[in-house]
Amino acid sequence: MPVAIDRLTLTQFRNHAATRLDGTGKLNLLFGENGAGKTNVLEAISLLAPGRGLRRAALADIPRSTSGEGFGVSAMINCADGREPVQIGTGSEAQRPGRRLVHVNGAASPANALGEWLGLSWLTPAMDRLFMDSAGARRRYLDRLALALDPGHAGQAARYDNALRERNRLLSDEAEPDPDWLEAIEAQMAECGSALSRTRAALVDALGTALDRLPDQPFARPTLTYHAGGPLARDELADALRASRRQDRAARRTLTGPHRDELEVRMASKAMPASECSTGEQKAMLIAITLAHAELAAGERPRILLLDEVAAHLDPLRREALFERLRAGTTQVWMTGTERAPFAAIGNQAATWKITQGEARRAS
Ligand SMILES: Nc1ncnc2c1ncn2[C@@H]1O[C@H](COP(=O)(O)OP(=O)(O)O)[C@@H](O)[C@H]1O
Ligand SMILES: [Mg+2]
Repeated sequence: MPVAIDRLTLTQFRNHAATRLDGTGKLNLLFGENGAGKTNVLEAISLLAPGRGLRRAALADIPRSTSGEGFGVSAMINCADGREPVQIGTGSEAQRPGRRLVHVNGAASPANALGEWLGLSWLTPAMDRLFMDSAGARRRYLDRLALALDPGHAGQAARYDNALRERNRLLSDEAEPDPDWLEAIEAQMAECGSALSRTRAALVDALGTALDRLPDQPFARPTLTYHAGGPLARDELADALRASRRQDRAARRTLTGPHRDELEVRMASKAMPASECSTGEQKAMLIAITLAHAELAAGERPRILLLDEVAAHLDPLRREALFERLRAGTTQVWMTGTERAPFAAIGNQAATWKITQGEARRAS
């Protein structure tokens, strides 16, 4: 299996003026001080897929602040299925900083063209509070995982949200909402909402199957349960929405549908809600889900796993087990850390760069 990404370049990308990483491996390590620009490299990679990347940043915040130019990220992708390698890139122009440009082999392409090339998974310190966070944060998390498997998922979610907002507006602002208009809005919610819930349910199912293959230790194996906020079938969802108009009007919001979906996570060995587990156990469960996700749909598109500051939170036993999994898999992995020492066990197999103030120097 050739590595997924080769020859990565960042241009005016946050604190990187012009950084080029050649000779990437299956395992890649970036180390350097706080603020050196390690996470920025992972963010750049995350923008080689649809969506807003691992910081969910506004495009206009990304160009290097003193440059006055747009930003660029580009990479050579080795395809899994024997097709010729392809050069993909994304970025912005100074004149229109909010517009995302995409090119494939040098030709301007629509933004969704990026969905075709890579399947990305990532784990960052910002996700550490996921189990303590709101149900909405876990829905966004699920949707991001789904996006790596189905590039059309984000569009369904956006269309559902638009229709939901319009229905809530009609029900709370209008004395006599036009029933035909309500019917049309609910039909759209049922169409997109059903697709959304089914994709989420199938994803949780597939993750559950992958997680069942894991031992309980050393990563605290989680069990995932998906609670749908409304009927999964399109016609039933439409009926449920129609039947709840009066009630929703009183509540001034829609009480049925996938915007009420819940992802419940428990630690398998204790059946303990994840939110009540220790910080270390929560991290271990997140790693287990991330690894399971990285293995889903492997083979269709090259897979990339971004692990930001993961080793620092693990004891040596769990760290070694993580490295063992990463070595055994086919996924290309990008890891960061402030120090090199925790990676000693994997270091001689990883392409390594020292990052200093927005510059990368090959360290092995
Ligand atoms: N648009 C930008 N222009 C210039 N510098 C930026 C921009 N956005 C973020 N930075 C800087 O990038 C630096 C490195 O960030 P980061 O990659 O998160 O560091 P770390 O190596 O700790 O992961 C930070 O000091 C931040 O101020
Ligand atoms: Mg960082």
